[in-house]
Amino acid sequence: MFRIKTMFSIFSSISCSNTTIVILLCIIDTIVRGSSVKNSTGHHRQLSTDYYAKTCPQVEQLVGSVTSQLFKDSPAIAPATIRLFFHDCFVQGCDASILLSTKPGSKELAERDAILNKDLSNEAFEGINKAKALVETKCQGVVSCADILTISTRDYVHLAGGPYYEVKKGRWDGKTSKASLVSSNIPHNNATIDDILKLFASKGLSKEDFVVLSGAHTIGYSHCKYIKNRIYNYKGTQQPQPNIDPKLLRALKMYCPHHGGNEDVVVPFDVTTPYTFDHAYYANLEKNMGILVTDQLLYSDTRTKPIVQSLSKDKHKFFHAFAQAMEKMGTIHVKRGNKHGEKRIDCTSPL
Ligand code: HEM
Repeated sequence: MFRIKTMFSIFSSISCSNTTIVILLCIIDTIVRGSSVKNSTGHHRQLSTDYYAKTCPQVEQLVGSVTSQLFKDSPAIAPATIRLFFHDCFVQGCDASILLSTKPGSKELAERDAILNKDLSNEAFEGINKAKALVETKCQGVVSCADILTISTRDYVHLAGGPYYEVKKGRWDGKTSKASLVSSNIPHNNATIDDILKLFASKGLSKEDFVVLSGAHTIGYSHCKYIKNRIYNYKGTQQPQPNIDPKLLRALKMYCPHHGGNEDVVVPFDVTTPYTFDHAYYANLEKNMGILVTDQLLYSDTRTKPIVQSLSKDKHKFFHAFAQAMEKMGTIHVKRGNKHGEKRIDCTSPL
């Protein structure tokens, strides 16, 4: 809610004058059963859509009743949970290790307390706990937190206007969570395309997957701290990055003053349709209206530009590719069985 409130206060502080970007900003108020997938380590992991058919056949309805209510109350939970899922899968695999709290008295922080995860919204964590609590009332100790996070993420993509896709299940929860693993596994906002392609490749994800998954930035927000260098001191030049759409630049400077300013202020990733999961993110990149350096680089790098161009033309193609890439991301280092995994009752603490 806070983020949404922040956005409203931002909008209301801008007068809807004749600059396109401000007008744009003001207008907005807004299957496969049992197949196995090769993961980045080359192992086949068996996940299936009917994994809980006997043990908890109603799991998707139970999770769905929670996600639809929470989305109705606060649509910002959708981007927050999609990002949570991404940050979980990239660090030790999709094993809900991101949900674990740091053990009291432990010297080692858990993933969620790493600097790069500090902005993950509490709302998203709480949403998963609520869904898990409801599932536990009907199916005790059966459904993993990792599967609940995967199902919830799919629900939020769909609730925000994006594609619906079947979720394969059967992930177990990881037993460990280490903040020290986060920085090398989550892309930084000032990373190069080379850095990110290498990182994605290490997770078994292709260049196409990278461009398609970045389309998640069609909803959600960025704090000013991630764009300040871009708009005030790009690569130490004391100048904005060249080519940012001038009207967008003016608007961003208004939201995010060079000095001072409220550090809780957020700006929408998709300045044309911020609340709708659509393919406008790619058309924005073509107009130099990307928000992060890494967003806009997708259009300036010759390896990724043709993919941006093709997705910006075709919403259906984006939706299809996004669903497939999410499914693929959801198989990264999946754990199975007691040796490496567990089925937690409380997603925040190990058994
Ligand atoms: C590939 C390079 C990527 C970089 C450098 C990156 C970076 C960022 C940054 C800096 C934020 C702003 C966080 C904040 O201020 O709170 C953000 C938000 C977000 N990211 Fe990414 N991201 C990347 C890829 C992805 C991928 C692959 C996904 C999901 C499939 C994703 C989903 C999101 C979402 C939905 C938000 C909005 C969160 C919210 O509004 O609560 N990102 N990302």
